[in-house]
Amino acid sequence: MKIRLFQTLHQKRQAKLNKAEIIEILSTNESDNELFSLADNTRKKYVGDEVHLRALIEISNICKNSCKYCGLRLENNFVERYKMTEADILKSAKQAYELGFKTIVLQSGESSAFSVLKLCKIIEKIKNFDVAITLSLGEYEKRDLKEFYLAGADRYLLRIETTDEDLYQKMHPNMDLKNRKRVLYDLKDIGYEVGTGSLVGLPHQSINSLADDILFFNELSADMIGIGPFIAHPNTPLSNFSNGDLTLSMKIMALCRLTLKNINIPATTAMETLQKNGRILALQRGANVVMPNLSDASYSKNYEIYPNKAGAFVFDINERLNSIVSQIKSINRTIAKGCGNSPHKGA
Ligand code: 5AD
Repeated sequence: MKIRLFQTLHQKRQAKLNKAEIIEILSTNESDNELFSLADNTRKKYVGDEVHLRALIEISNICKNSCKYCGLRLENNFVERYKMTEADILKSAKQAYELGFKTIVLQSGESSAFSVLKLCKIIEKIKNFDVAITLSLGEYEKRDLKEFYLAGADRYLLRIETTDEDLYQKMHPNMDLKNRKRVLYDLKDIGYEVGTGSLVGLPHQSINSLADDILFFNELSADMIGIGPFIAHPNTPLSNFSNGDLTLSMKIMALCRLTLKNINIPATTAMETLQKNGRILALQRGANVVMPNLSDASYSKNYEIYPNKAGAFVFDINERLNSIVSQIKSINRTIAKGCGNSPHKGA
């Protein structure tokens, strides 16, 4: 098996998987255990046993886009749209800080619900808590991304979703893969820690294109990678398609760990949603980050990107958090005390 070859190379620290090798690994289940344990060892070696917790605050579900898979798409009239008030955002951020979170993630649909100026003010105020700030607000012009950075944002998450141009076009009407890549490179250029990733199991997605996704993450030299299985949402055009495959998603995640080594990789909520122990499995197959949802449940129940989101209906935030912390401890991992900057950045 090629994976054996890779293991040897890996030990010699010369590893670079080529596309054919990635495709071979993705096309068979024979070496999955080997792949997962290699990813786990690499995680341990490069980023250790600490798990970094990031507090996710979903500041608005308003979205101008029509992504075929997403429950927040413009055309979904079943969603009750909201925009958190500044006071509520700061309240959630304070709560996260007091609970010990060192990173706060502000996420929203893509819209102008908040002006750039308003977002900058919110970022500046949250920064007073001495936390790292991650934004996940979609595509912006470079000058706006720079404003956010100057206001205090440190990191930005923007999944490429797929690097397959045809599939990208079909999944994202009125959007452009080139622009998405442009944003990712702008973010790098400005100085952000940059997170990206893919949706795995989109209809008509090929193994070939998933291999390209992994090569793209390497080319970008991403600092964080979030991989999520596609989960069919009933109020979208993809409602009748099957969910993505959890094992395949984890293989992509494991390959990201193997190829990019010291990056941050979340055990994604979509993985836990597909399978009850998905989060634990992910942490044992390359992941070192978890992003608990700290949004007030009155908001998060309407942030339905995909159905039955794990934890979304646990109304008590402490309860949500405790179940995640006990999952982490059950596998003898520790909760990190620092803010968990990506050791990859600048490397
Ligand atoms: N299933 C799984 N993940 C989804 N996302 C959007 N819709 C779905 C879905 N139906 C993911 C996208 C986006 C992230 C915030 O949520 O990858 O980048």
